[in-house]
Amino acid sequence: MNMITVHASRVYPIWIGRGLLKQCGSLLREQTKAKTAAIVTDDNVDRLYGTSVVASLVQNGFRVVKFVFLHGESAKCSKTLNQIYDFLCAHEITRTDCLVALGGGVVGDITGFAAATFLRGLDYFQIPTTLLAQVDSSVGGKTAIDLPSGKNLVGAFKQPVAVLCDPDTLQTLPEIFLADGMGEVIKYGEIQDAKLFEQLEQYKLDTIHEVLEQVITTCIDIKRRVVEEDEFDTGLRMILNFGHTLGHAIESYYHYETYTHGSAVAAGMCMMAKKTCTSELYERLCHCVLSYHLPTEVPAKLEALLPLCGKDKKRANDTLRFIVCEEIGDAQIRSMTFEAFQNWMLS
Ligand code: NAD
Ligand code: GLY
Repeated sequence: MNMITVHASRVYPIWIGRGLLKQCGSLLREQTKAKTAAIVTDDNVDRLYGTSVVASLVQNGFRVVKFVFLHGESAKCSKTLNQIYDFLCAHEITRTDCLVALGGGVVGDITGFAAATFLRGLDYFQIPTTLLAQVDSSVGGKTAIDLPSGKNLVGAFKQPVAVLCDPDTLQTLPEIFLADGMGEVIKYGEIQDAKLFEQLEQYKLDTIHEVLEQVITTCIDIKRRVVEEDEFDTGLRMILNFGHTLGHAIESYYHYETYTHGSAVAAGMCMMAKKTCTSELYERLCHCVLSYHLPTEVPAKLEALLPLCGKDKKRANDTLRFIVCEEIGDAQIRSMTFEAFQNWMLS
């Protein structure tokens, strides 16, 4: 088992290891005196892993209750959140109990937000079961729900008590979601770690499993360093958004139906690299992205995507902040007026 400790407003461990899920009860017990563990999960994950997680928690003295919602981004909304609050009330959850987010980023984000707000805050654990959630969303304490007006518009920073990543859970993950997570993994190489990027160039989607535990550990450690320096996302943490300015525009242009988040980010990274990198580096990034079944571009015209970049949360008044990587492993934050950004991208 690998262990990484995050030193943020809360100090917490992240355990990474194959087969750890079955030990979740004993690992969580070391971190909490909670009597009741309220698991929040979705139907897919519950079917695959619910029984073994409940068994491990019960064996370690927890009273366990479980809330299951239908999988998918559309569940990350106020309606599900209210159902979670009602469920917690019905089971008399107190501030000394804990929540357990068992699932992908949707489960992690909404459970984290419930933990940040129910009874003005209680402890929660992250047990991420998608690659995206293991390398990104379960670490760093960003929690949120979506509004009809946009994604992640209501949220809070709330660090978990611990994160447990079992790469074995990824064996049941549909290929499209494995590829999706690889978009974020490639991003980590691009922004911070040339050695990781070179390693990713040696593998492809159907062979990456061989080294996934180590790759996940490397990515989490990069995120740890960034979060420790800028927990509340006012500076360095923005580099995690490389590829996201155009990526979010792509997701939105296609109504969140055609491109997964990771594939939109992959195309966004390549489009930004085309503008800012040498052709040799651009070709390397495209080659790597393609080996993980991710797109390097989208059919929509840049002219149609750019206006949607203005909705990015990193826009402050008229100024847009975005990330460029002129060298692999070296991300820089740039800012321009939104109008200048659009003209520059089209020039
Ligand atoms: P997801 O949670 O919807 O999971 C994807 C699909 O995989 C779902 O259908 C789920 O049921 C299924 N699944 C999960 N684990 C499985 C497993 N082991 N085997 C089989 N199926 C499994 O999506 P996601 O990609 O994990 O997360 C996306 C969400 O994460 C978005 O809402 C996004 O906004 C959020 N996010 C948050 C942060 C953050 O810092 N908080 C960062 C990135 C993304
Ligand atoms: N996923 C981006 C962040 O955690 O800041």
